[in-house]
Order: sequence, then structure tokens, then C-alpha cells
Amino acid sequence: MPQPGGKRIVLGVSGGIAAYKAAELCRRLQDRGFSVRVVMTASAQKFVMPLTFAALTGERVITDLFASDSGDATLSSAIDHIGIAQEADLLLVAPATADILAKFTHGIADDFLTTMHLAYAGRVLVAPAMNSNMWAHPATAENIATLRARGVHIVEPDAGELACGMVGPGRLAEPDRIADAAELILSIPAAQPDLAGKRVLITAGPTREPIDPVRYISNRSSGKMGFALAAEARDRGASVTIVCGPASAAPPSGCKIVPVETAQQMYDRVMENLDAAQIVVMAAAVADYRPASVATQKIKKDQSAPAVELEPTQDILKAVGASKDGRILVGFAAETENLQANAERKLRGKNCDLLVANLVGDGLAFDTDDNQGLILSASGEVVEISRMSKRQMAGRIFDEVLRTSRATIA
Ligand code: CTP
Repeated sequence: MPQPGGKRIVLGVSGGIAAYKAAELCRRLQDRGFSVRVVMTASAQKFVMPLTFAALTGERVITDLFASDSGDATLSSAIDHIGIAQEADLLLVAPATADILAKFTHGIADDFLTTMHLAYAGRVLVAPAMNSNMWAHPATAENIATLRARGVHIVEPDAGELACGMVGPGRLAEPDRIADAAELILSIPAAQPDLAGKRVLITAGPTREPIDPVRYISNRSSGKMGFALAAEARDRGASVTIVCGPASAAPPSGCKIVPVETAQQMYDRVMENLDAAQIVVMAAAVADYRPASVATQKIKKDQSAPAVELEPTQDILKAVGASKDGRILVGFAAETENLQANAERKLRGKNCDLLVANLVGDGLAFDTDDNQGLILSASGEVVEISRMSKRQMAGRIFDEVLRTSRATIA
């Protein structure tokens, strides 16, 4: 049974065959001491009666943006989504259809659940359920990636036989697995606004160095680590600028994005934005070399094989380190060997306050959702970071930034 003063979950039920499982989930959440308020979309009500959830929760089920208790459309009922959003510790949507995921991604607000989602500043957990083809569709995959980058938690669907007769991924995760995820999220204290008022400049993604109008030299960076850092800083109250190379991942919302392509452009934009920044984190994988000259026309293969002469790019981190002026500077080191020794050399050589060292290659670090490594500080401390999500690692990095910088940041 819900305990007095327990955490409050708004359970959004959207319209899929798995909507009936939301009743079981509701019970499991209550068994764990959470109080649950249910919001149903119009299509969810075609699968399950609101009365089922009203009986389970003892509270009116919200089914309409405008319907009041008495059935009248009143101002107080129309703004209910603000009050309910303020009271909720978690917005949990199960099942989350492809449609609701798309609406959340694009900020559509055409019913109570989607409007509340926009008004809600707290933590969001979604448990998708749909046909395997819909789950595999690039539109759904992109929506999931965008939501994830914004910090939305996802309980991936199970694989198995689906209501439509197909076999594959798309079945709503078991209620206990969803309840476990909700419990885990609620056990982590909400982000502290300990970077409030701070201006953070982050570089992210790869750079591209052109050879001719169609070809370039680049690297495997996806931008995920830089974007995780940006989302973390944003959620801790900072105002965040990302100078961003052509990354394959989606940047987080609520940050100023400065898109660039080449190392030179990244250098120029970083220098333009440096004055305003108090914390600078260089997570981009900047090309160290670029073609010395760029062919103005496409190089044709009937010409003899071209020798591409390379010249060094500017080391942006080193340049920022040379004019640090009290800023906190965090560098990264991507290494395939001698992790700590190489990282120490870069920390000192580039005048960083902190240096995050990752082993790369063999499926590590680049384009993965997890990371691990070392955080070295100029004072000589080394913190080992075991394998964790890039978002969690971003949290550890900003904890270290605050620890080493408390005295320095005005
Ligand atoms: N970096 C930079 N400008 C460059 C190259 C690197 O700002 N032209 C930054 C990266 O963003 C990262 C750090 O320097 O924060 C280290 O990058 P890394 O590629 O690991 O090291 P390099 O200095 O390029 O040295 P090496 O390639 O020899 O390992």
C-alpha cells in the first residue's frame, strides 16, 4: 500500500494492446510504496476502462485536458497539468506507443499526457511497446535516441511473440522490470543545481578535414560523451554552449549549439566563446592533421593515386590552456596504450585542471553508450571510473570539476 509521504508517480498509459499490463504495473508500484496517479490517452481508453485504474488508485483517472470532475470545461481543470506535473516525482509512460514517443520527441501537446510532459521538469521513464517493425523503424530509433540524449530513461521492450502475431522485439517489458527501473531512478537524488549560474563551454564530436569537395579525413567520434556532459551541466543549472563537429548522435535540448566542420572552425568558434565561459570541457576528437591543400575539383581516379600531404591543425586545448585566466579546463585523452602515462603528459603539456583518459579501440569509448577510464587532476589525484553510462560518467566529471574548482570559480 502507498505510504504517507511516499514518492508520487504519474503513470501515463497510451493506446496499445499492452495497456492492460499497466494495471498490473500500477499494483506493483503501489506495493513498493509509491502513490500512483493515472493519465490515459484517448486511444488507451479503447483498450482499458479508466474505471480499472480509478478502482486501483482510488483517484480520478485523467483522460482529458479539459474535462473537470463535474464534466465542465473550467480554467482550473484546464491547468491541472501544471499542478499534477509539480507534484510528480516521476512521469512513467507504460506502454509508450511509437506515437507518444514521437510526440514527446517533437514537443507536441495535444492531450493531457503530452501537455503535462512539456510542463514537467522532472524525471521521465518510458517503457515502449509496439510491433517489431515499428520499433525498428528509423523514425522510432531516432526518437528514442533523442529522448535518451535529453535524459529520458528507457526500459527497452522484450523480444517474443507479439499481439500482431510477429515474433521479435516490441513486447512491453514485464511490470516488475519497469517497477525496478522506476524504483532505481527514484532512489537517485534529483540533480542538484550546483552549477547554477555557471557558463560551460563544451566541444563535442569529430572534425572533418576536406581533401576535395566530396572527400574528407575524420574519425569515429559520435559526440555522445560531449553531449552527455552538456546534458549533465544543463540539468545541474549551467548555461551550456556546445561547439559541435558533425556528430552522429543528437545534441541535447536546452543548450546553445555552435555547429562546425573543421578543426580550424572549431578553434575559431571556441576562441569566440571562451571569454564568457568559466568551465571549458574539450571532449571533441579534433583531427591532428589536415590536407595541406584542398583540391577545388573532385580528384578523379584516372589520375595517378594522389599523395595527400598533411599539415598539423591547431591544438585547441593547448591554446585554451595557454590563456586559461582562472577558467577550469578539462581535457580528454584517447589512448590505445600507456593510458596513465600519456594522460599525465597531456594534462601537464596542455595546462589542464583535469584530464579524462579513455582507452579506445576494440569497441571501447567511440560510439558506445558506456565509458570507463581515469580522471587525473593537476594536484596529482587519479580517480578510476569503472564502466558506466556516459551520462553517469559526465556526473562524476562535474563532481570533480566542482571539487577542484570550488576556490577558483568566482
Ligand atoms: N585536442 C584539441 N585540438 C587538437 C587535438 C586535440 O583541442 N588539434 C584536444 C581534444 O579535444 C582532447 C585532447 O586535446 O581534449 C587530447 O586529444 P587526443 O586526441 O587524445 O590527443 P592529442 O593531443 O591529439 O595527442 P595524440 O594524438 O598524440 O594522442
